[in-house]
Amino acid sequence: MNVSPGGKPVIFNTMMATLNPGDEVVVPTPYWVSYPDMVLLAGGAPVFAPTTADTGFKLRPADLEKAITPKTRWLILNSPSNPSGAAYTKAELRALADVLLRHPQVWILTDDMYEHLLFDDMEFWTIAQVEPALYDRTLTMNGVSKAYAMTGWRIGYAAGPEPLIKLMAKVMSQSTSNPSSISQYAAVEALNGPQDFIKPNAKLFQERRDLVVSMLNQASGLKCPTPEGAFYVYPSCEGLIGKTAPSGRVIGSDKDFANELLEAEGVAVVFGEAFGLSPFFRISYATSNTVLEDACGRIQRFCGAVR
Ligand SMILES: Cc1ncc(COP(=O)(O)O)c(C=O)c1O
Repeated sequence: MNVSPGGKPVIFNTMMATLNPGDEVVVPTPYWVSYPDMVLLAGGAPVFAPTTADTGFKLRPADLEKAITPKTRWLILNSPSNPSGAAYTKAELRALADVLLRHPQVWILTDDMYEHLLFDDMEFWTIAQVEPALYDRTLTMNGVSKAYAMTGWRIGYAAGPEPLIKLMAKVMSQSTSNPSSISQYAAVEALNGPQDFIKPNAKLFQERRDLVVSMLNQASGLKCPTPEGAFYVYPSCEGLIGKTAPSGRVIGSDKDFANELLEAEGVAVVFGEAFGLSPFFRISYATSNTVLEDACGRIQRFCGAVR
């Protein structure tokens, strides 16, 4: 078991501890922005495995197979996902595990940060649970930032094969040392204390998701899939590309869309290019219904004014 100052250092230390120059790390797109940069900083090469809205932004076994080479060291899985909210079912993980069993050089880092934010009674599964034969090459990570709203306490943790955990501890001992003992005690309380608020919280997020998905799908030119988890939506703005914003400028990309929306309506979204899949954008709905209704109303007004 490794305990680090947040989920971020868990992943970064893993990459630092294991990558040699030229080693490849398969990162499905859209990805959490930090993964490719962490791989690059550690001297590795991110290899992007594309997904599409049609497959719910989930990696298909054939696409995983295509991305793997003899140089592949890791696959990073993140379910539920930041930025798409997509979550894998047991059967979907089973199919990916079958591919991974054929490639013993590939280790799996599974980022389970949003484990407790799953909707519509979907059950959470992680790959080492689905295929115990992958145990010896899986790092399962989590943290208290999301489910316990303890981002500032900086605690993330991971379980995996002992030699790997020892290497991660070596990297950590030369950088941050241990996370603060005060935060560690707080995290122990969070994990061992009453958990009864987690389900009602997820329910609240589900209601927010439904509100945002419904309002965005009423905006002309946007198409918003319904995600299974986390607190993000990843709508397509393809219908607005090539059209003219109220400023008179042409919207040529999701970056232009985000900039024009910010300028016209004061709503900040993150453009899809940052997550490696365009033309989309990400909205975090970890805020109140009042703010969300106001923001989505403004997005509708903006889209309605695009010609
Ligand atoms: C997918 C994912 N992994 C890991 C983290 C890391 O969180 P922290 O470093 O706050 O524990 C985040 C935070 O945004 C995230 O979205």
